[in-house]
Amino acid sequence: ETASAPAQQQVLRIGTNPTFAPFEFQSPNSSELTGFDMDLARALGKEMGRKVELVNLGFDGLIPALGAGNIDLAISGMTITEARKNAVDFSDPYYTAGLIIMVRPDDNRIKGINDLQGKKIGVQIGTTGANKALTIKGAEVKQFNNADEPNLELANKGVDAVINDQPVIAYYLVSQGGEGKGKMVGEIMEAELYGVAAKKGNQALIKQVNEALAALKKSGEYDKIYKKWFGA
Ligand code: ARG
Repeated sequence: ETASAPAQQQVLRIGTNPTFAPFEFQSPNSSELTGFDMDLARALGKEMGRKVELVNLGFDGLIPALGAGNIDLAISGMTITEARKNAVDFSDPYYTAGLIIMVRPDDNRIKGINDLQGKKIGVQIGTTGANKALTIKGAEVKQFNNADEPNLELANKGVDAVINDQPVIAYYLVSQGGEGKGKMVGEIMEAELYGVAAKKGNQALIKQVNEALAALKKSGEYDKIYKKWFGA
């Protein structure tokens, strides 16, 4: 009987919800998951000397999966929040985003968050965008399993607005066929920092992730991945 492999050689299971281009999404021309986070996940694994297995989960299932030990890390455009820190440990931040509102191109009623009272808002369940929408007085919040579904609902007039991370809305409008189906209004809301999450208490793994992240920044590999997805 063989002894179990040392931790370093075990596969690193990384959970993600790949409906969030350009961070994680199904590649249009292969079965691969692609995006900024996916390149980062593979690069982190390489740096840590671990094989990476990407696990496709619902966004609201990622934190429970970490808790249950079904995945080792979550890399999924996940904003570091105080509430989530009760359930998981986060790495150092690796990307700065923020929420924005999208409406239909011909909608001149909604110019910002104050115009969303009493309106129908589409969001992905379990996200910071959903939390924001749920604070708006009299709004009817429609929550979807995937991050790309609210966009469709907006085009189909099932909702008046979508709240989601600005880089994701921007990518939809410019690179994913969203042109003419929506426009961004108002300002980007408060900055949100993305972090890699591990099971609460697994500081040893978080330390390895932070060291790998620092190494990727130092070597220029992080910049290369950033440029690939976001340009100079
Ligand atoms: N940044 C937002 C949050 O943490 C949205 C993340 C959604 N990620 C995804 N892969 N669908 O709640």
